Amino acid sequence: MTEKREKKKLNDPHVNCVGLFKIFKTSDLEVVALRGLELTVNYREIVAIVGASGSGKSTLLNILAGYDFPSAGSVQVGSHNLLQMTEREAVIYRRYEVGFIWQQANQNLFPYLSAIENIQLPMMVSNMSRNERQNKSEHLLEMVGLTNRRNHKPIELSGGEQQRVSIAVGLSNSPSLLLADEPTGELDEESGHDVLDLMNTINREIGTTIIIVTHDPLIYSSVNRAITIKDGKTSTEIDQSVLFRRKEKKIPPRINEYLLIDSSGNVQIPKEILSDSELGRRVRIGKTSKGEITLESNE
Ligand SMILES: Nc1ncnc2c1ncn2[C@@H]1O[C@H](COP(=O)(O)OP(=O)(O)OP(=O)(O)O)[C@@H](O)[C@H]1O
Ligand SMILES: [Mg+2]
Repeated sequence: MTEKREKKKLNDPHVNCVGLFKIFKTSDLEVVALRGLELTVNYREIVAIVGASGSGKSTLLNILAGYDFPSAGSVQVGSHNLLQMTEREAVIYRRYEVGFIWQQANQNLFPYLSAIENIQLPMMVSNMSRNERQNKSEHLLEMVGLTNRRNHKPIELSGGEQQRVSIAVGLSNSPSLLLADEPTGELDEESGHDVLDLMNTINREIGTTIIIVTHDPLIYSSVNRAITIKDGKTSTEIDQSVLFRRKEKKIPPRINEYLLIDSSGNVQIPKEILSDSELGRRVRIGKTSKGEITLESNE
């Protein structure tokens, strides 16, 4: 708990998943939702996780939130080994270490409570005084730009405003990690922009590590790093730090997309490249005199 208040360096891993598997067993079949997923997110980073429907994005986020447990592999968030937590530790972890924002604002907010009451609710279980709760909730409301809506119930707020209150609720116990599962999925473009701008501001100003799961290309282009999940594995990574610097200098954006090699040396060759190539079921890997890696088909 105290660890989140320590100053963390940018290059220290905050989230580290290695060889993560999640198998859902239903009465007649097993679904492998994550198959050896690997992911590292550093402190104070903001990253997007993108991928087709059913690729395992929400499964991963639920595990990182401590709502669900992986079937195998390791997952470390800060000093917490999420596989070895007792039930009591998991409660503390969910309460103080992570904030979670769902796609539907009505999953994040109690309909009969006002904006300010919703923000104060998670604080009730921490040992904050009434005064501290009051000050902190007013501050969070101001940060999300909704001081003038403090007494509005969710139904009296627009979708974008509801999501901004949800972000304040997610931050109410000062988590070091904020997770958002398709936070703009139900918003129009302008409200979606506001929510993303807010997340970027939070990341910059408070230093919260943020992971946003999305289908939305808008999110994709507003974070430094976007990681693609394919069939339950992290597959490619788009590094846009260059894009940001270029924006400032008004140079046209250039996006670098990389394939990810996991800790066992596996790499997913994109289907379109594979079907366009001569590669069959078996390949021979080699190295040229210049040190370039080559793949040669064997059949
Ligand atoms: N509780 C569950 N029981 C059985 N199967 C599940 C369960 N939750 C998810 N799955 C399956 O696991 C796979 C990954 O699901 P997940 O919800 O993580 O996908 P997703 O990438 O979030 O998709 P979407 O973009 O549609 O939200 C899917 O095939 C899904 O049907
Ligand atoms: Mg999902």
